[in-house]
Amino acid sequence: MTTLGTPLSPHATKVMLLGSGELGKEVLIALQRLGVETIAVDRYDNAPGQQVAHHSRTITMSDPAMLRALIEEEKPDLVVPEIEAIATPMLEVLEATGTVRVIPTARATRLTMDREGIRRLAAETLGLPTSPYQFCDSLAELQAAIDAGIGYPCIVKPVMSSSGKGQSKISGPADVAKAWDHAMAGGRVSHGRVIVEGFIDFDYEITLLTVRAKGADGQIGTHFCEPVGHIQVNGDYVESWQPHPMSTLALAKAQQIAKAVTDDLGVGLDGQSSGLGLFGVELFVKGDQVWFSEVSPRPHDTGLVTLTTQVQSEFELHARAILGLPVNTTLRSPGASAVIYGGVDAQGVVFDGVDEALRVPNTDLRLFGKPESFTKRRMGVALAFDADVEVARTHAKLAASKVKPRVA
Ligand SMILES: Nc1ncnc2c1ncn2[C@@H]1O[C@H](COP(=O)(O)OP(=O)(O)OP(=O)(O)O)[C@@H](O)[C@H]1O
Ligand SMILES: [Mg+2]
Repeated sequence: MTTLGTPLSPHATKVMLLGSGELGKEVLIALQRLGVETIAVDRYDNAPGQQVAHHSRTITMSDPAMLRALIEEEKPDLVVPEIEAIATPMLEVLEATGTVRVIPTARATRLTMDREGIRRLAAETLGLPTSPYQFCDSLAELQAAIDAGIGYPCIVKPVMSSSGKGQSKISGPADVAKAWDHAMAGGRVSHGRVIVEGFIDFDYEITLLTVRAKGADGQIGTHFCEPVGHIQVNGDYVESWQPHPMSTLALAKAQQIAKAVTDDLGVGLDGQSSGLGLFGVELFVKGDQVWFSEVSPRPHDTGLVTLTTQVQSEFELHARAILGLPVNTTLRSPGASAVIYGGVDAQGVVFDGVDEALRVPNTDLRLFGKPESFTKRRMGVALAFDADVEVARTHAKLAASKVKPRVA
């Protein structure tokens, strides 16, 4: 049985979000609606999620001592990582000593915080199909890996990076040194390691949102959302839609892969399969062939579309699952999302054209409220639903194009 408390009382159910961007903000709103007391943590003040939480804290989450001090002071029932750049070994210590429960498990957050942990788990431990890959610590090693079998074209990524940062495609020998330098400049921490991956010439890529939630019998079950199709530009998502049509065989393989990887990440340090929550499993598909790419043990940016397409959005699914509540992954209507970029580098921008955007049929908007805009920073998203997913895509893109951030 799940019992929830009253926020701001001695019997509150307290949840701490580590990372409070646009995805965390929606998780926080879903938790607020269930009367959960929320603590939004980020590296800067007035992050989107901090604007809707009971409490806001600004710390360097990659600093283990600061992270420990904050968790020990606030004593949340659950810690919910929203980003990768966290002192995850400290989360493992705090989980092992029973100080806190980490979602889905501290082990999953450690394995997915860099590309090496999750790729080795998926390909080498679980035997799932992935692109061919090598890890390299120098330009010479990179060249050797390409020559020894990865071949051209291939993709180089820093092991610690997200949203396509430091990532580039190598078409031939002339690109190798450039790709190495780009990776060294774009990694999250000064860490000279890259992964080089053979290029998969996929027909399309999807995110399979997968939820581990408790059933009436107390056992954890795995639930799948309809596949989310998406387009990435320079490793950053610009458009997504749901459902993406798939052959029966490809969908079955995608679900098998997602089940295998989330089953494993659901196992905690204690060896118990107790991890709860939603995962975004990224897959490449060509005909009936499916490759595992990576997984987020948390809501996925391409899943923003579920705010308009599902009975319960990916954020509500995550909030419910982590609290031990039942989930419903039913699609309400096909739909699409389109990203609104800042377009300018400025503090406190204003958004023109919101009315025009919302006059596009069956659309909705999220403006994240980020205090500072960058040209390529995601500042909002347009959403559209329609019985025809292509119409929804057109409407979402049209609505997004009407919103024009500018210097105030
Ligand atoms: N081996 C590959 N073959 C073909 N395309 C690839 C390959 N690896 C990555 N890509 C393309 O680049 C995109 C970003 O790659 P990946 O997901 O590994 O990076 P990321 O920085 O973690 O991105 P994000 O954080 O946005 O998920 C993929 O969604 C895909 O479109
Ligand atoms: Mg990705």
